[in-house]
Amino acid sequence: MRQDLRQRLLSTNQGRIISRWEKLSPHEQSLVEQQLEAIDLEFLANLFDKRNSSFTLPDVEKIAPVPVLQPATNFAEAKREGLSSLAKGEVGILMVAGGQGSRLGTTQPKGTWPITPITQKSLFQLHSEKVLTLSKKANRDIPFMIMTSPATHDQTVAFFNSQAFFGLKKEQVIFFTQGTMPAVDLNTGEILFEEPAKVFASPDGHGGTLTALKKTGLLEQLKSQGIRHLFFFQVDNPLVQIADPVFIGHHISHRSQLSSKVILKDSPTDKLGNFIQVDGRCQIIEYSDLPMELATRKKHDGSLFIDTGNPAIHLFDVDFLDLVCSNAAALPFHLARKKVPHLDANLSKVVPEKENAWKFERFIFDIFPNAERWLLVSTKRDEEFAPLKNAQGDDSPETAKYAQSKLFIQWLEKAGVKIPAYSTTPEIEICPSFAMDAEELSRKLPSNFQAKFPLLLQD
Ligand code: UD1
Repeated sequence: MRQDLRQRLLSTNQGRIISRWEKLSPHEQSLVEQQLEAIDLEFLANLFDKRNSSFTLPDVEKIAPVPVLQPATNFAEAKREGLSSLAKGEVGILMVAGGQGSRLGTTQPKGTWPITPITQKSLFQLHSEKVLTLSKKANRDIPFMIMTSPATHDQTVAFFNSQAFFGLKKEQVIFFTQGTMPAVDLNTGEILFEEPAKVFASPDGHGGTLTALKKTGLLEQLKSQGIRHLFFFQVDNPLVQIADPVFIGHHISHRSQLSSKVILKDSPTDKLGNFIQVDGRCQIIEYSDLPMELATRKKHDGSLFIDTGNPAIHLFDVDFLDLVCSNAAALPFHLARKKVPHLDANLSKVVPEKENAWKFERFIFDIFPNAERWLLVSTKRDEEFAPLKNAQGDDSPETAKYAQSKLFIQWLEKAGVKIPAYSTTPEIEICPSFAMDAEELSRKLPSNFQAKFPLLLQD
C-alpha cells in the first residue's frame, strides 16, 4: 500500500482496510485504492465523530406555522400564466429516481413497478405519458430530466430504451447520475465492503441532485436553453400533477424562488416532512427528526400547530438553484442507521440482524431556508399524493392503485357522470392522453356517457 494512503487511513481510523490488505490480490488492491482516492476520508471521519449531533432542531420558540395559498385564488389567471410559460419553453421537469426502493423489496428501479389500476403501466410510463401530453399542449418538447444513481442507472436507461421512451423523443429525456456515499460501521466508523474490492456505497440522498446538476453541466445547459423554472418530483407518486400550470402560474406571479405543494397532515406522526417557518424563512423538518412534543402541539382551535406536510412536489427557479448549487457541498448530511451486509476482517460475509451501519444522505429541502421569496400552495392528498413506499399495507401498490381509481371517480362525478352503486371501489383508469384533470374529462366525455366498470379511458 502506498505510504501516503496508509497514513491517511491510520489518521482517519480506517485501520481495518490496512489489516486485510495482504488478503487482496494486486488487482483488488488497485481497485480499492481507486475507490479510496475518491472518498474524502477526513470528511467522513468528521461526519462520524459528529454522528450524535448531526441534526439540530431550530430554537422551538422561533418555530411558526407556514402560510399556505389556496390554488383557487386567481385560478384562471394562474393557469394562463403557467401555460404561457410552458409554451415559451421556460419549464423543465426533474424526476428523482435514484432511491433503491429497499422498503418495497425490489431489485429493479421503483419506476419500473406496475402501478396503474387496469393497464398496469409502470410509474416510468405513467410519468412519461404525462410529460408527453403536456409537451403536446405546450407545442414543444419539454425537457424531462431523470436523476438515477449508480444502483438504478443502467436498468432505468435500459427500461426506457426497451419501451421506446414511451413516445417521448429520445433527446428530450436526459438521464444523469447522483453521487454515492460509503456506509460505515455503526460503532467504529470504518468503511464497509460488500466485496473484497468493492466499498459498500449507497446514493447520497436526493440532495445529491444539486451537486449532480452542477457537476454534469446540466444546470448551465438549462440556463442556456432559457429554462427558468424546474419542476421537481419523486418517482414514487403516481398522482403527481407534473408541471401543473396553475402551480407554475402562482410561482411566477409571486416571483417565488422556491414553491412547494403542501398537504394537510393526517396525524401528528404522519410520515411526511413538516413545513415550518423560522425568522420568515421556510424549512422542512423530516418526520423522523420532529420531536413528539412539537408533533402533537395544538393551536387554540385544536388543530395541529404543525399540520403542513411535504408531498415532495417543488418548483425551483433556475437562478435560485444556480445560487445554492455553488455552495451545495455545504448542505448537511443526515445520518440513518441501516442494516448493511458486508465482509468482516477475514473477508467473510456478515448479514446483520439489526442495524450495524450509518448511511449518509443529503436532502434537497435543506436549501429551502436560502430562499428569500417562497410560496406554499395547498393540494389535497386524494388528488395528488399516493406514494409507493412499501410492499404491503400503507403506501403500497394496493393503496396507490386504489387512490387512482378513487380520484378518477371524483373526476367522473365532476363531469356529471352518474356512478353506479358499488361495494368495492371499481377499477378505473383514465390515461393522461385522454384527460389530465376533471375539467378536461368533462370537455371530452359525451353528455350521455354511461360508466361501466372496469372503465378504461384512453385516446
Ligand atoms: C420523502 C421525504 C419526505 C416526504 C416524502 C413524501 C426525504 C428525506 N423525505 O420521504 O419529506 O414527505 O418523501 O413521499 O426525502 N431518492 C433519490 N436518491 C436518493 C434517495 C432518494 O433519488 O439518494 C429519491 C427516491 O427515488 C424517491 C425519493 O427520493 O423517489 C424519496 O425517497 P424516500 O427514501 O422514499 O423518502 P421518504 O423517506 O419516503
